Amino acid sequence: ALGSSSDTSGNSFIKKLKTSGRSLVAFYGSQTGTGEEFAGRLAKEGVRYQMKGMVADPEEYDMGELINMKEIPNSLAVFCLATYGEGDPTDNAMDFYEWLQNGSADLTGLNYTVFGLGNKTYEHYNAVGIYVDQRLEELGATRVCELGLGDDDANIEDDFITWKDKFWPSVCEYFGIETMGEDVSIRQYQLVEHTEINTDRVYTGEVARLHSLKNQRPPFDVKNPYLAPITVNRELHKAGNRSCMHIEFNIEGSRMRYDTGDHCAVYAKNDDENVEKLGKLLGVNLDTLFTLTNTDEDSSKKHPFPCPTSYRTALTYYLDITSNPRTHILKELSEYCSNPEEQVKLKSMASTSPEGKQLYNSWIIQDNRNILHILEDMPSCKPPIDHICELLPRLQCRYYSISSSSKLHPTTVHITAVRVEYKTPTGRLNKGVATCWLADKKPSPVSAPPPAEEESPPPPPSTALVPVFIRKSQFKLPTRPQTPIIMIGPGTGLAPFRGFIQERDLYRKEGKPVGDTILYFGCRKKSEDYIYQEELEEYVASGTLKLYVAFSREQQQKQYVTHLLEKNKEELWNVIGENNGHLYVCGDAKNMARDVHNIVVSVIKEKGNMEEAQANTYLKKMEAQKRYSADVWS
Ligand code: FAD
Ligand code: 2AM
Repeated sequence: ALGSSSDTSGNSFIKKLKTSGRSLVAFYGSQTGTGEEFAGRLAKEGVRYQMKGMVADPEEYDMGELINMKEIPNSLAVFCLATYGEGDPTDNAMDFYEWLQNGSADLTGLNYTVFGLGNKTYEHYNAVGIYVDQRLEELGATRVCELGLGDDDANIEDDFITWKDKFWPSVCEYFGIETMGEDVSIRQYQLVEHTEINTDRVYTGEVARLHSLKNQRPPFDVKNPYLAPITVNRELHKAGNRSCMHIEFNIEGSRMRYDTGDHCAVYAKNDDENVEKLGKLLGVNLDTLFTLTNTDEDSSKKHPFPCPTSYRTALTYYLDITSNPRTHILKELSEYCSNPEEQVKLKSMASTSPEGKQLYNSWIIQDNRNILHILEDMPSCKPPIDHICELLPRLQCRYYSISSSSKLHPTTVHITAVRVEYKTPTGRLNKGVATCWLADKKPSPVSAPPPAEEESPPPPPSTALVPVFIRKSQFKLPTRPQTPIIMIGPGTGLAPFRGFIQERDLYRKEGKPVGDTILYFGCRKKSEDYIYQEELEEYVASGTLKLYVAFSREQQQKQYVTHLLEKNKEELWNVIGENNGHLYVCGDAKNMARDVHNIVVSVIKEKGNMEEAQANTYLKKMEAQKRYSADVWS
């Protein structure tokens, strides 16, 4: 947020730093909480280096004040910034990013450091971190430590602590800090357990506002999801031991609207059995009501999650208990081990020694241990549950590409989700939080239609209710139906294209001229995971769709969508080169998007008679014109 914007004026981080005697501010651009967590860890560690720190959300402050940081002696601004989508900043860093791009503030005297969070499977790896690091220097600021880049596809925790090992010495050298405080762990939140409390004030899983799930009030959004009834939940796979669900949410009366290509977010809950197990291991009564309150009175985050609540609710709805814990959590856990061997092991994994990193990588990451597995495998480790609640990250909502067209289905949202379930190297069965929870959400059976004379009884209340909200996306059909399109979506990558095809089919039936609508779909076997086969074949028969399907596991050699694309270079160029068409890529196949990208570049070179550099510029232009879009996840 910037000076001109009314809701942040008066919210001065400079003032906060000054009045609380701090000199370090850690800003974050975070969508799922990792950037925020890293910023928090840096701010907290500042105490050791005589730099008391604070964490700040750029959206909440007047970022134009960066020009005044120099008023605070020996001050430092750190930026932990994630890159999303097609090289975009997170929502909360968007205004700041645009201010940097468009503005020309003189940032002389500002000391800064950037750590970027990205994912190498995506194009534009860490574009935001890289840009901000360079732009701040251009504007006159001084880089105190070299840019750090984290890769979420590999081990971002390792990248972060490795960078942090360079960061603090650079800071000490730059500011001439000689003495280092002790590495003591400080609790960020203070616990109060309630014995007498009005239960009406207790949070039971609401994302933000008390009773928001009972008293539903639009508008519905990330902090106020709509409790949508599931009307359809059916299996799409015909055989095999994997599962892909087709789910329909009824959003009638919610005043929520979506556009074809948007995303639907789902707030799931953790598995009850896992929560019970945690309670047993920690030896607590999960129904105890409590509040955790930030000891830093200046922080805008008073509680780590809605409080007061019960430990059961916190572990079920608010905390991520299934991811691999980061090293700072292991360090805190080590303090609670009565067995010295376990303590040493945890401490080592939290250190940056080569052995420690290797152990963390094998015992936590490769063996895929979560907090529950760690406590099971280190029986002497008995941390207090409130400390666990303080340390674990927030449980995040999961996003799904909407697989229906809003023109055809204005009051229902369809999603297409593959169930996540796998064995870990330690022999445990890990279940995907959202997909396994959704799998059990079956709509109430539809009662037979009543005889015509009688008035129909009200439908039975559905128990299959899911907190959802819609997130707008940039993944959109061309405005003109005549524009030809090529869609590449193997596996669940088909999801948004099902919506696209529904919409183009509707236009055709309305008698509008519709351009070529070409789909590349891929799956393992025709008899197993060829999802929506009948629908797709009907669209082909009716003339709406031109379809290419690659079955990867029906022959010796893998057959992918990319192989089919290579055979159809002529048609590809006809669409994107000669008819100003759009090309879309969607899916979760690790390298698919990059492979497609490379083929497109080679087609532009070959058919458009261009050199490599020219072809890349051509593609960049297509991206800028929204003629080449990707909706990919890993
Ligand atoms: P989680 O509990 O989050 O577990 C998933 C994690 O488990 C993975 O991240 C990985 O770390 C680990 N894991 C999974 N399999 C294995 C394995 N075999 N071995 C080791 N570790 C493993 N998903 C869809 O199905 N359809 C969609 O249309 C769709 N659209 C998306 C759109 C966007 C913009 C984004 C960001 C994601 C989309 N996803 C989609 C992915 C979806 O959001 C979830 O990540 C996915 O459903 C898994 O969620 P979960 O809670 O069930 O699993
Ligand atoms: P595979 O699992 O047999 O390797 C949906 O996931 C389909 O995408 C599967 O058939 C999968 O094949 C395939 N796939 C995997 N990697 C891919 C890639 N790099 N490009 C295109 N398709 C790929």
